[in-house]
Amino acid sequence: MNILVLGGGGREHALAWAIKQNPKCDRLIVAPGNPGIAAIAECADLDILDRASVVTFCEENAIDFVVIGPEAPLAAGVADATRGAGILTFGPSAAAARIEASKAFTKELCAACGAPTARHARFTEAAPARAYIREQGAPIVVKADGLAAGKGVVVAETVDQALAAVDDMLGGAFGAAGAEVVIEEFMAGEEASFFVLTDGTTCLAIGTAQDHKRVGEGDTGPNTGGMGAYSPAPVLTEAIAAQALARIVQPCVDELARRGTPYQGVIYAGLMIADGEARLVEFNARFGDPEAQVLMMRLGAQALDLMLACAEGRLADAQVSWAEDHALCVVLAARGYPGTPETGSAIGGLDALPEDSRHMVFHAGTASRDGRLVAAGGRVLGVTARGDSLAEARARAYGLVDRIDWPGGFCRRDIGWRAL
Ligand code: AMP
Ligand code: GLY
Repeated sequence: MNILVLGGGGREHALAWAIKQNPKCDRLIVAPGNPGIAAIAECADLDILDRASVVTFCEENAIDFVVIGPEAPLAAGVADATRGAGILTFGPSAAAARIEASKAFTKELCAACGAPTARHARFTEAAPARAYIREQGAPIVVKADGLAAGKGVVVAETVDQALAAVDDMLGGAFGAAGAEVVIEEFMAGEEASFFVLTDGTTCLAIGTAQDHKRVGEGDTGPNTGGMGAYSPAPVLTEAIAAQALARIVQPCVDELARRGTPYQGVIYAGLMIADGEARLVEFNARFGDPEAQVLMMRLGAQALDLMLACAEGRLADAQVSWAEDHALCVVLAARGYPGTPETGSAIGGLDALPEDSRHMVFHAGTASRDGRLVAAGGRVLGVTARGDSLAEARARAYGLVDRIDWPGGFCRRDIGWRAL
């Protein structure tokens, strides 16, 4: 079949890498893709936020299956458009993708089905928000309601920090995304990510991961999109995963279906785990980045079969087969990230690295310039390896990192420390 993947980051490189291994895939196109993806698929220049352009592209290229990587096209209703045009699609409708696009929506959904999450209140005016913060005290969490590229959350250690965050958000720092704020109880515990496919009715857990959001070693410094990840997440034991599925994910999926907006695609549940109980931090309507890199490394070719079963409403008959393996991804970022990254520096040494089912360098922010590979974004490479143990996966991943010649980049040397 002819398959189109939308997106051009490390997540989409990992998705394309897994899909490509499946013999069902004849032609693979990724839009816009990146130089790493170009080595395994055709890259197409396409405005992936424009519904009509995506549909026309699919028709012109006889696309049988569309896989939507990032949240922006989901929120823009691209899945509605492709599905409406009769094209098999992996990814939720705009209405269902609100589980990521609106934090207030998700809070209300959890309340409707009794899914455990932090206590919260919503505000569009500063004065009552400030009064609420004073009444609750710190630590407390302030969130912009809408999509803010991962930057709309302030975990405030003091009341003053929380008040400043409210003023910022309601003052327009995040534009429309911050017109409403959600203020919630600080949850202590260990965070982990839980990935579940659903066709709207059946839910199938496909893996767990943990990422490192802070830029600095020991989980210090500013937040990033993720400096590394590993799978599985030891804190998400089978029992806790089963509990999270039964108490959080399935009830929300059922509630969305009951409302006439069934969810179809992957649900990425960010969980806080304490005292053997999981509570929901947030939902995402897509795979994580770099969580997809470790999940795809472990799933391999079956990822396509699972996504197809999801899109065709056949998940009740689908199964995941797990090897007892581990994967770990180290992100190499351009100096300056997560502030203003220094782009344009040359990256060498990749050609000599192994690329197989245990070693893979996924490209994120790279570009080709005059025949050379250069940095073109903040997070640039996702160096990923698999092993029989997490320690082995980690040793392999850093073994690859050390052979990359890129003075303009940096990485954390402690990915996986919590689990090891
Ligand atoms: P979110 O974008 O909602 O995932 O929030 C970003 C990060 O903020 C999460 O990954 C958590 O580390 C932290 N966070 C969000 N909400 C809470 C909460 N209620 N309690 C503690 N930490 C939180
Ligand atoms: N790594 C976090 C995310 O993809 O949202």
